[in-house]
Amino acid sequence: MSPPHLDGDERALLLDAFDSNWIAPLGPHVDAFEEEFCAYTGAPNSLALSSGTAGLHLALLLSGVEAGDKVFCSTLTFAATVNAIKYCNAEPVFIDSETASWNLDSQLLAEELQRCAANNTLPRALILVHVFGQSADLDPIVDLCKRYNVSLIEDAAESLGATYKGKHTGTVGDFGVYSFNGNKIMTTSGGGMLVSSNKASIDRGRFLATQAREPFAHYQHECVGYNYRLSNLLAAVGRGQLAKMPDKVAHHRKIFEIYRRQLSQHKGITFMPEADFGVSNRWLSVINIDAEALGESPTDVRLRLEESNIEARPVWKPMHMQPVFKDCKVVGGKVAENIFTTGLCLPSGSGLSPADQQRVIDAIANK
Ligand SMILES: Cc1ncc(COP(=O)(O)O)c(C=O)c1O
Repeated sequence: MSPPHLDGDERALLLDAFDSNWIAPLGPHVDAFEEEFCAYTGAPNSLALSSGTAGLHLALLLSGVEAGDKVFCSTLTFAATVNAIKYCNAEPVFIDSETASWNLDSQLLAEELQRCAANNTLPRALILVHVFGQSADLDPIVDLCKRYNVSLIEDAAESLGATYKGKHTGTVGDFGVYSFNGNKIMTTSGGGMLVSSNKASIDRGRFLATQAREPFAHYQHECVGYNYRLSNLLAAVGRGQLAKMPDKVAHHRKIFEIYRRQLSQHKGITFMPEADFGVSNRWLSVINIDAEALGESPTDVRLRLEESNIEARPVWKPMHMQPVFKDCKVVGGKVAENIFTTGLCLPSGSGLSPADQQRVIDAIANK
């Protein structure tokens, strides 16, 4: 559905790393990848990591989240967002989406923060997800987080290259986290990046991600650390991928436009909206299906595509509907539930050829 697409200098860079014998979770390609990532996104400081989940975990720790703290988060997301909260033994509270961007509803957030402030149970942090590559409406959320002293962590795992009022998603809050998992818009097979305008936080994150080894020759440790750094080999692949990011965003957007042009004529098919405050990277092309109008449910369409060896997938099942998080509080929830029950993610990788995309479109059209 969104397979890796390597068509640049990845192979040459990887061989350079291999031949240099920097086969380690540090090295010149890691340093260069961090620098180039800052240049692309405009983030002042970055830390290359073994996964986006590691980045979320570190961002929570660096925000001071401790056991028993509340952490708010978008309900329409992939489980990794919430798992990181659970690693801290903190308590997730899920917030519903709004319809313009499918991301966190700032009105619901305002109401819940006001309630929490009144009984002294404010959260320590908020993880705001930019789902399927589209930015949330950041300005009101930033204001609320400042007013209530809540650390804002942007989960930009899916939204590298997307912007909000001209700024890259992930660079607006206190922390931004990106994923280079195999299905993302760019990949290192597995990997992630943590960014922040606060250099001291990124330095501390680097220390925690390197087993919290104190600067002594004799392996001294004064707190618990993690083994979260990115390998130099994978950073080399990441540099090749990063150089192609503008092309990848353009290609993903084009794929979406072709689907829209050709499938909009079918009664019952609508498309994930693009809010006017940003530019989506269209990581995945997502449609909504009105089963009655189309005469087929999203599951019917998905299974029919599967028969033609075409992979489509449901939209993320909201976190408040997940058995593992069933005891967590949710604020609202109906908008995300509706997106889940009507949504379908179509093949969207930047390597998708026009012929392959036409095959998908024909398969959807020809019942
Ligand atoms: C919204 C979201 N957050 C976090 C992650 C976790 O990233 P990773 O797989 O790099 O740990 C992913 C994807 O995998 C994701 O889609």
